Amino acid sequence: MSEFPRYRPRRLRATPVLRSLVRETDVTASDLILPLFVTEGEGVRRPVTSLPGVFNTSVDGVVADAREAQRLGIPAVLLFGIPGSKDERGSSGWDDDGVVQRAVRALRAELPDLVVITDVCLCEYTSHGHCGVVRDGAVANDETLELLARQALSHARAGAHIVAPSDMMDGRVATLRAALDDDGFADVAILSYAVKYASAFYGPFREAAGSTPQFGDRRAYQMDPANAEEALREARMDVAEGADIIMVKPALAYLDVIWRVKQETGWPVCAYHVSGEYAAIMAAARNGWIDEAAAMREALTAIRRAGADMIVSYWAREFARGDASS
Ligand code: PBG
Repeated sequence: MSEFPRYRPRRLRATPVLRSLVRETDVTASDLILPLFVTEGEGVRRPVTSLPGVFNTSVDGVVADAREAQRLGIPAVLLFGIPGSKDERGSSGWDDDGVVQRAVRALRAELPDLVVITDVCLCEYTSHGHCGVVRDGAVANDETLELLARQALSHARAGAHIVAPSDMMDGRVATLRAALDDDGFADVAILSYAVKYASAFYGPFREAAGSTPQFGDRRAYQMDPANAEEALREARMDVAEGADIIMVKPALAYLDVIWRVKQETGWPVCAYHVSGEYAAIMAAARNGWIDEAAAMREALTAIRRAGADMIVSYWAREFARGDASS
């Protein structure tokens, strides 16, 4: 068949136009989702030390950042809340006047074409930093479900198009779907973090969101990095419970899982290129050890090649700026 010297793969690599003609995978701004961290106050813009280019911003700044993202062709933002107060149950998470809820209302009013996605999880709102209610040192699954439903409904009332549960409780997609449908939000979609690993790569995010667990870790609810069959079970389960989009997270270290989940479900798949994956490349780039723009393009391309339809990325705007000019 394709044997040397009759076939020479290098023929189609000889020039930029030839390479672009045969390129199989493309990344464009329209594939990207920009994560934003909303905090209290006005005019606040605090840099996150471990995530260069990422800030904690008040609602006004979130609107400004989202406006720029939209101008660059990025269709969606994913909001995380950094509330003014935390308690054992994370009650600021379902406050209709909470930071995320106010940001959603402002974004819907000012940027009607932007897709607004909200992270649904209690870890940013609980004093202990766990993703649900703690009973006897463990996160109580079923009791947490009810609180997540309150939070998702509060986001829906504010105008979220998509709610994204990232807590990893069992049964939360079915719980949220039922709660949304009962309250007249049948059109609000669920982006389920169906496959979320207990990963060391979330470190910088926890600095950004102030959500480091005060005791223990998240291994009793997030997945073991060694397991891929289990990822398929989680994905199938969430599809059956009514998830509209399936998330795999992290992304770069789990390309095989993205591939298998896409093949298995045929559902829209979103990959989260997480904080630690981004920070590692940024740190190397800042030391002059790696070319940031090239590494960014390669990482995002690999995630798309593995089968992700969309990617949550801290690089979204930076990528889109290059994309817009190329
Ligand atoms: C909340 C949540 C986390 C991330 C997204 N949602 C942190 C965690 O589970 O500890 C991580 C995102 C990132 O690292 O960029 N549960």
